[in-house]
Parts: sequence; structure tokens; C-alpha cells
Amino acid sequence: MEFFLEAYLTRRVKEVALTLPVFDATFDPEIRPADERFGDFQANGLLAYLGKRKENPRMWAQQLMNLFAAHDPLFDVAVAGPGFLNFSLKDTTLMRWLCKFHTASSYQGAYKSIFSDRTVVIDYSSPNTAKRMHVGHLRSMVIGEALQRLIRFGGGRVIRDNHIGDWGTQFGILLMQIKASSYAFNEDPEATIEALEYLYQVGMTKTKEDATALDQARQELVKLQQGDAENLMLWERINRLSYQSFDRIYQRMQVAFDHVLGESFYRNKVDDVYDELQKYQLAVFDGGALVVFHPEHPRFCKQAFLIRKSDGASNYASTDLATVKYRVQEFHADDIVYVTDCRQCDHFEQLFLTVKKWFQAADYRVPNMYHVYFGTILDAHGKAIKTREGRPIQLQSLLNEAVKRAYNLIQEKSPDLPEAEKRKVAEVVGLGAIKYADLLQERTGNYRFEWDKMINFDGNTAPYLLYAIARIYAIFRKLNLKISTLDFAALKDVQSFSTATERALAKKLIAFPSALNLALKELKPHWLCHYLFDLAGTFSAFYNADKVAVEDTCLRQSRLLLCSATLSTLETGLHLLGLETLERM
Ligand code: ARG
Repeated sequence: MEFFLEAYLTRRVKEVALTLPVFDATFDPEIRPADERFGDFQANGLLAYLGKRKENPRMWAQQLMNLFAAHDPLFDVAVAGPGFLNFSLKDTTLMRWLCKFHTASSYQGAYKSIFSDRTVVIDYSSPNTAKRMHVGHLRSMVIGEALQRLIRFGGGRVIRDNHIGDWGTQFGILLMQIKASSYAFNEDPEATIEALEYLYQVGMTKTKEDATALDQARQELVKLQQGDAENLMLWERINRLSYQSFDRIYQRMQVAFDHVLGESFYRNKVDDVYDELQKYQLAVFDGGALVVFHPEHPRFCKQAFLIRKSDGASNYASTDLATVKYRVQEFHADDIVYVTDCRQCDHFEQLFLTVKKWFQAADYRVPNMYHVYFGTILDAHGKAIKTREGRPIQLQSLLNEAVKRAYNLIQEKSPDLPEAEKRKVAEVVGLGAIKYADLLQERTGNYRFEWDKMINFDGNTAPYLLYAIARIYAIFRKLNLKISTLDFAALKDVQSFSTATERALAKKLIAFPSALNLALKELKPHWLCHYLFDLAGTFSAFYNADKVAVEDTCLRQSRLLLCSATLSTLETGLHLLGLETLERM
């Protein structure tokens, strides 16, 4: 029995078709979930395929059906309309599938995605130093974390790389102002970074109004880039404190990396990029700067990709080009996934085009590159979210607020929980709510950040799903059963479900890999959110209709099996999205 039955069905139908003379390897049966009235899956691909070859679809569908029915033990099949095939899962198939796949450990390694057995570098979070993280840093972290977990679950060898912005022009202004105001560092990261944010603002205003200040800032930057000892020391100090401040957030959000290589790591690798791109005649001079054009592209034929500034300084593009080469040569990356907001779409499109041409010319392996972009977080009125003073909302205070609101919610729902547990639950629910609300939105769009919608037991929210999990744990507690000791082996031979709600739940459960597949194919976690919400609803319908603690042992066992499988799927699904789950709340 395999985990992903939709993929199994596709493969089987193709195999059978190939034994018939009209079908060749190009035939795709196009297996899709079917309208409930007709079956569980439908093959839509026959009509177009046979129509093109002037063959009778209904006749061949009939033949295909007969051959399939003679050999396949898992599905019933019927011809419909002008040449569709409908497939229904046999109850015994569902039952056997559940017997095999109802614990989190049984899913391990069972699902093979497009990333299976590939080395996938995922570049996410990647904030800039000398600033605290604010609400604008949330999405890359949350979406990136969910995707790295999903890719790993789908068999990918994942390398998490935090590409920190630690080598930008901001340091010129900052160093100038630190010196001008004789700022004395303090060892508290938050307080220091906050002070640096302020100094940067002051320095920024100064450079706008005063040409000598602008010149000073430029000189400080040049000195830093040339390795001036004092500037390097200050710069390292700023970075160290910034990393400490980021780490507090990462720990709280349960996000971790395999590598934290800032842009500065690539600063002595950019000369090689300039040389190679010139050697292959991809880069040209444009008023002293080095740029790449893409003549075949409607926009990038004119809009240059600037890879070295006219003063000789490197930039975001130069370090990103060097980074791709490093990831391919040192990490042996097959795929590279970048998670940033959609304002960087042009940058990545130009980067990918340039890398492809460069690597082909140099005979390096070209990795698959994906730009996973996302929209902006808006407030309840649809405007970019800010504090009342018009400043960005600090991430740490946003998280505190979420936990505070979650605490009030728990207080209302479970006033009798011990205080320490209430606090623990509030942390899980609050942070989970923020993560989930973000992931639930199709990432390419903007989304509205609304406390009352996300911290709520009603609707498609983290509290709702976490509560669904706690409720299933409660079923087992009430019956004095330990989930890990239950043995469902005897159910292998059960021939059919006793109610329609049982069967509907079983069918929803076997759709878990389809949801994973959708999420991974498009690198969009919202597909998994929708699936989990549907599953929780289907479970409720089952639980309201069918009593679990019945006398009949076989029936009771099969209902417990459904409970256990739902629990594992909900937990695994939320863990893949980066949430913690609870046994009681
Ligand atoms: N530091 C950048 C920013 O804050 C994001 C970096 C994304 N990764 C990359 N390789 N360009 O916008």
C-alpha cells in the first residue's frame, strides 16, 4: 500500500494504457479528484488524447476499464460520458491505508516530492543588520520555515542559509554618525540596536542636507571596504549585537539555520564574478558601471542589471551572483529557493537569467532557482501596517501582543487550567496564530493583519486547529487509552465502513499527500492550511454523528483508528507549517 494513492493511480492507469496499441508514453491520464456522486477520482486525459488521434474515446475507455478492473485490487472503475473514467476507492483499500498510515512516524519517508533526493538551499529570513526585526520581517521567516520543513518532509536534503544583509551602504552613514556623536556601545543588544536605528535616521537626514556629511559617509564606507581597522571593529560589533537580537526572535519562533553567511562573506568573491561575466561577454560597461542586459527580454533589454557601481563598489547583485556560485560549488545545490517580498521580483528575475547564461557558458551545473515572493502585511483598513507614530511595528512587541491576546482567549475558554499551563498554552496559541494567519493567505497577495480573526476559536485559525487536536487527545484520555499502545492490525480485514461520515473522513485522510503535493509543487503552504481546516471539519461531522465508545469492539476500534489518524495528520500538518501543538488546552 502506498502513501500517495493519486500518484499510484496515475502510474497504474498509464501502465495499463501502454498495453493497448493507441497509447504511447506521451499519454497523461490527468487523474483529478472527482465529483463525489461519481467516484473519488476521474481520468480526464482520454478525450483530448484520443480525439487528436481521431480514435473513439468511449471504445478505448471501455477497453482500458476492462483491463484495469481485471488487475487492480485498490479501485473500482467505470466509464462515464463520452470517455471519462471514474475511480472509486474500495472500502478495504481505505481501511488498509489507514492501518498503515495513522501515526506521524508512518509518514516519515513515505512522501516523495519533486525535491526528493535533491540538495535544496533555502534562503530565508535574511534581515539586514543594525536594525531590529519589525513586522516586515515576519513573512520571509514564517513562509521560509514552513517551506523548508515541507521540502525536507518531501525527501529533499535541505540547507537553510540565512543571507544576512551586513555589507550595505547603510554602514557609511552609520559609521559617520557613530563617530560624530561619539556613541558609546552598550552590551544590551536591543538597546544598542535601537540607538543605532536612531543614529542612522539622524545621519540620513544630515547627508541629505549637507554635502560634506554625505562625503564623510562615503569615505567611511570606502574605509570599511578597504579594511580600515577601526571601522571593521565597529562593524563587527554592530553585527554581533544584531545577530544576538535576531537570535532571540528565532528561538522564540523556533526557526534555525545551518549557515548564516552574510553578504560580507562574499565580498572577496565578487572580483571573480566581474572577470567571468566579462570573459563570457555578458557584462558590459555603462558609464563606468558594470551591467548586464538581456536582449531577449522585453524589459531587461533596456533595464540594466547593475553588478558593479561606477566607483568600483560591489552591490546586492554582485554578492548574490557570487552566492549562487558558492552554493553550487560548495553546497552542491540542485535547487535554490529564495523567500523575499515581491518588490524584489525584478532583481531575482535578472539574477536567474544572468546565472543561467553565465553557468552555461562556464560549463557549471545550472541549479533550478525559485523566487518565492510574497505580498505586504496590511492593517485592518488595508494600509501598510505601522505604529500610531507611523513607525514599523517591532516584531518582538507584536509577538508579545499575540501571546497576551491568546492568554485572554484561554482564560475565557479554560479558566480552570493551572496558571503555568495557561501561559504555556498562550505562547503556543499566540505565536501559532500569527504564523498560521500568514500561511493561510496565498503568499503572492497582500494580507490584512486582524487580531480578532486570527486569535479566535471560530474560523480557519490556529486556535481552532489546536483545539481540534486537544479534543482528540481528550477522547483517548476519557477512555483511558494510550494512543501509542493501540493495535489496529485486526482491522486489516474489515470489508466496509458502517456509516457515510466514517467513509468521508477516511477519504479526507488519504488526501493528505495530495495537499502536500499541491503545496510543494507551487511552494505555497496555504494549500496545506485549507486541507487541515477541511479535515478538522470532516472530523467534527464524523464525531457528532458517530459515537466512538460503542460496545462492538471492531466498530469501536475502527472509529478509534479514524481518531488516531486524524490526530496524526493534524499534528504533522501543523508541525510542517512550523507550529507547536498541545495535548490539552
Ligand atoms: N537582506 C535582504 C532584504 O532585507 C534579503 C536577502 C534575500 N536573499 C538574497 N540572497 N538576496 O531585503
